Order: sequence, then structure tokens, then C-alpha cells
Amino acid sequence: MRKILAIAAAAALALTMSSCGRDTGTPATGASGSSAAAVKGTIGVAMPTKTSERWIKDGDNIKKQLEAAGYTVNLVYANDDIPTQVTQVNDMITKKNQLLVVAAIDGVALKGALAEAKSAGIPVVAYDRLLRETDAVSYYTTFDNFKVGVLQGTSLLAGLAASGKPKPWNVELFAGSPDDNNATFFFNGAMSVLQPKIDDGTIKIASGETDFKVVATLRWDAAVAKKRMENILTKSYASTDVNGVLAPYDGLSRGIIAALKGSGYGSGGKALPVVTGQDAELESVKSILAGEQYSTVFKDTSELAKATVKMIQEITSGATVTVNDTKSYDNGLKVVPTELLQPVACDKSSCKQILLDAKYYTDAQLA
Ligand code: BGC
Repeated sequence: MRKILAIAAAAALALTMSSCGRDTGTPATGASGSSAAAVKGTIGVAMPTKTSERWIKDGDNIKKQLEAAGYTVNLVYANDDIPTQVTQVNDMITKKNQLLVVAAIDGVALKGALAEAKSAGIPVVAYDRLLRETDAVSYYTTFDNFKVGVLQGTSLLAGLAASGKPKPWNVELFAGSPDDNNATFFFNGAMSVLQPKIDDGTIKIASGETDFKVVATLRWDAAVAKKRMENILTKSYASTDVNGVLAPYDGLSRGIIAALKGSGYGSGGKALPVVTGQDAELESVKSILAGEQYSTVFKDTSELAKATVKMIQEITSGATVTVNDTKSYDNGLKVVPTELLQPVACDKSSCKQILLDAKYYTDAQLA
């Protein structure tokens, strides 16, 4: 069994219990490490933005599941604006929320606010995105982010092989927001598959742009990715076609596909390149089923919410906190104990079944 008793958490818990008492009026009970009933106060949940479907689902799922478990939920979205998120987290601390769940916009920008949480004895769980350069974060729940990238790279190669296009294949690379720790993991995972193919000449990057800093897309902004794709098409593909695009997130994939269509791909016998994605957003799943976007990586956010709520119950009851990774996520100050869930790649042949089986979408939504 992959269990650890987190000593740091036990220490944080002793403090938590006193803050829980203030928050709920329930006296602190139970020694840390015991399995006393959870003290159920208000859980602060800070989400980055509503512009991407997945975070709306994340927020809804956590709220629903926490409320069903008897907690009160203070769920907020920050409109992808860093100062707004800092203010929201500070507000949760002022209001003595019992525990904070944070999906950061910028993994470092919250460190001042989180130090306040630590002094107030409020435990912090990093949700999906790692909180960096802070020792105030107790735990992390996420998907295997390196594997997400491996799945994207593998799917890109599979799509290229299936396209029947002659090698070398012309590929362009996109990465996510450089201030989101996940973006590096996704890119490194994908490059662990693609770099050997670049090195042996199977793949050619006509733009020459392969450095993370150059291919990164600030704030995961689709318009930024669309513009970069347009520039690349003008600069490097006047006399040849692009066959594949590594895109790390469905929103970017759609921006990239829009740029490609604007340049004549997807009509008049000029095939769209193989474009990857992530999150199984409804619009992208429809695009996959229609044969446009090639693939996505499905991460069941309701399972992530479930793992997070279980962790919150363990923390607030003083039980042993269960995690399955104590090595991968060094935030610059500590290795954060992490519960890692598994992502799943899907394409036209598999997305519908996988998403229906997981009850992520209904038949009607995918019709
Ligand atoms: C998440 C991805 C998401 C991206 C953009 C990342 O931190 O892990 O699922 O596609 O942010 O929202």
C-alpha cells in the first residue's frame, strides 16, 4: 500500500484544528494521526478561470462533493488575473476558511498569501497545478503530467503514421503557459517521445522553434497560439505543408486549427495536419469526431475532485493522508506529497466510448 503518514501534515493539522474550531464553533478534537471525525468548516476553493470548460467542471465537482460530505464551500474564479487570485486567497485567510484548495494561475505568485495561510494554521492543497516556491503547501492532487505529454507525443506520431504522408514529417510545437508548472511537464513528456524522431530525421521542425520558452503560450491563450501558427505558416510553409502540430490543450488546438483553416488546410484536398490536445473539451471532442482535431487527453475531473475531497477529509480528521507519489513534484522548497491520477488519450476511434463510459458527456451532447 502506498501510504505515508505525513509528519508535516500532522503538525499543520494541530494548527488546523484550532482554526477549525474558530471557523465552525466545533471544539478541536482528536490527536493528529488519529481518525477522529472530520471537523467540517468552510473550504476555500480558488480556481483560475471560467474561460476553459474544465475548470468549471472542476469547481462544480469539488463543490458538490464537499457539500455532500458536509462541508461549506467558498468557490471563486479569478478570471485568469493574478492580482485577483491573490486577493481571493487573502480573503479566504481573513475569513478563516478551514483549508484552501488552489489551482493557481501563476504557480509562484501566491507564495506571499500562502505564507499567511501557514501562519494562520490553514492547510493548503495544490489542485492540478503545483504551488511553487512555498513551504505552505501540504499536498498536491493532479494527473500524471509527464504522462500527459507522453500521450500527446505518442498520439502525434500515430496520427502521422496513419496519415500516409511521406517522411520526413513537418511538425510544429506548442507548449502551455510558462508560469504553470504543468506546461513544462507536458512539454518534456511530449519531447521524450518526439526528440529522438527529430534527432533521427523522421520529424522536421521547419520553423526551427523548439525551445520551451519560444513555443510556450502565456495564459494558455488560444488567440496567442492562433497568431503564432499564422506567423509560422507565413514564414516557414510557403512552399511545403505542415503535417503535425503538438498542441498541449484543446483551447490552443482550436486556435491552431482556425489558423490552419485560414491558410487553406482542411479544404480543397489539402488535409489538416495531425493536431493533438488535452482536456476533452466538448467542442474539441466534436471536432475529433468530425475528423478535424486528431486527439485529446481525457482527464476525469470528477475523479480528481473525488481524490481531493478524500484528502480534505483525511486532513481535517487527523487521519493518515494517502498519496501515491512522493518524488515527482519538487516545488523549489519541498517535494510535495502528491496523489497522481492517470490521464487517457483518445482519438476519433475511441473518444466517444471512453467519455460515455466515464459519464463525462451524455450521448445527446456527443450526437
Ligand atoms: C491543466 C490542463 C489545462 C491547462 C489549461 C493545466 O494546468 O493541467 O488540464 O489544459 O492548464 O487550462
